[in-house]
Amino acid sequence: KLSKADILSQKNAEAELGGGQKRIDAQHNKGKLTARERIALLVDEGSFEEIGKFVMHRTRDFGLDKEHYLGDGVVTGYGTVNGRLVYVFAQDFTVFGGALSETHAEKICKLMDLALQNGAPLVGLNDSGGARIQEGVLSLAGYADIFYRNTRASGVIPQLSAVMGPCAGGAVYSPAITDFIFMVENTSYMFVTGPNVVKTVTHETVTAEELGGASTHSTKSGVTHFSCENELTCIQNIKQVLSYIPQNCEDEPPMLAYEPADESRPGLNDIIPANPNQPYDMREVIEELVDAGSFMEVHRNFAENIVVGFARIGGRSIGVVGNQPAVLAGVLDIHASTKAARFVRFCDCFNVPLLVLEDVPGFLPGTDQEWNGIITNGAKLLYAFCEATVPRVTVITRKAYGGAYDVMNSKHIGADMNYAWPSAEIAVMGASGAAEIIFKREIAEAEDPQTKLQEKVLEYTEKFANPYRAANRGYIDEVIMPHQTRQKLIRAFTMLENKVATLPKKKHGNIPL
Ligand code: COA
Repeated sequence: KLSKADILSQKNAEAELGGGQKRIDAQHNKGKLTARERIALLVDEGSFEEIGKFVMHRTRDFGLDKEHYLGDGVVTGYGTVNGRLVYVFAQDFTVFGGALSETHAEKICKLMDLALQNGAPLVGLNDSGGARIQEGVLSLAGYADIFYRNTRASGVIPQLSAVMGPCAGGAVYSPAITDFIFMVENTSYMFVTGPNVVKTVTHETVTAEELGGASTHSTKSGVTHFSCENELTCIQNIKQVLSYIPQNCEDEPPMLAYEPADESRPGLNDIIPANPNQPYDMREVIEELVDAGSFMEVHRNFAENIVVGFARIGGRSIGVVGNQPAVLAGVLDIHASTKAARFVRFCDCFNVPLLVLEDVPGFLPGTDQEWNGIITNGAKLLYAFCEATVPRVTVITRKAYGGAYDVMNSKHIGADMNYAWPSAEIAVMGASGAAEIIFKREIAEAEDPQTKLQEKVLEYTEKFANPYRAANRGYIDEVIMPHQTRQKLIRAFTMLENKVATLPKKKHGNIPL
């Protein structure tokens, strides 16, 4: 007869085997890790404490009363990542394909409640065939319980979702509500309806990977923020994001020790091409400005005309938003606006100061943009900046044209410090467009219209294609040489570290969605 201690260890061993060795092997053969292996990679060694290891489902239908697995397809618990508390759940594909039952959902909800009450990030590792089909509406109720908690926790604690296998139907909406989605290339997919339903309804033939794989969602839809080569890099990316952000909205981001050094960056003096229509890579500017190797780009392959990501400057965590002149001349379009707006709002939720690097010729013209709502979508970015109360610093490197000048963290909408390089052109539009409009008649009536136009372009350029008009008004706090920028930023963010700014009392704002 087994001793009480033996019974316990037997049960522990059973729970740890999930759906059994055969299914674990099948998981490995697909290039996927098990739920427990993933958690082990995420948390500090020996720090994981499991909750609800012996939970079982309560279904009686379709023979499930004879099929039980301890833990019911999800491993939940808490541990530390680089010494800081996190709550984590990992769906176990070896048990009913990780399908979500009533009890599986209850375990996740219990964890979410703990995370919210104790103010620490929640990491979800998703790998699931969706609703536990044998349970019907009980499973749907479980999803809704999770969505509700995701929403209530939004802006209170960081919520990170990795998709490391299937994630289809209603299941997609929990990751969608969370702050960041990480997907693994070739082994994960997300869609509301799968290829078979798509075929029936729209007659399109498409594979799961094409419809909702990591490459699709990191380039076309922007649903995922990080497309990761494999599961290990996926977990590493999660850990890196956690390193920039605080535990909750009342906490400050971690500050790394920093030894002041020579902060001059002479390389930046030559980065702006002599010809204002020639591109350069804003990533190079970011790399020069921030602490070496600290830039982590978010949404790297989506809406590449704007660059967003986390970095450190003088050891301090910041969020960077930069127009990208190397792609579409850095214009703002629908995707760039929504991408940046969401990032700005994340940073503002979690006390991450914002650095904006501006070189923007305006909004992208065209029927496609207008008919798909560039007005509403561009307004999201404007709204996000207007609303943000974190320290906000802008550097105009070159173009700051038209309404886009206002949108990109201008002084007028609450930025704290606004710098411009001598190459800055702060105007309603580019000089040639402007000259053609305001001197239309003069040019038309001139003996040599082409020479006249050039003359007028020059006149407009001299007057407005510089930062001094704006600096005369105090819209620019200082015109600085590029090489001084890093030093100025370190000092400005230090000066702003105790900033207090509040919004008028309200239930919540009504961002144009
Ligand atoms: N409910 C209950 N069990 C499920 C399930 C679900 N939603 N999804 C998968 N399973 C079970 C399978 O029956 C199988 O059980 P077994 O190990 O006892 O044979 C196991 O999980 C693995 O599934 P399998 O189909 O063999 O894996 P796969 O990698 O070939 O395919 C899916 C994975 C997710 C594509 C496929 O299982 C699927 O289409 N599932 C249903 C998705 C769905 O419609 N969900 C409901 C609506 S949200």
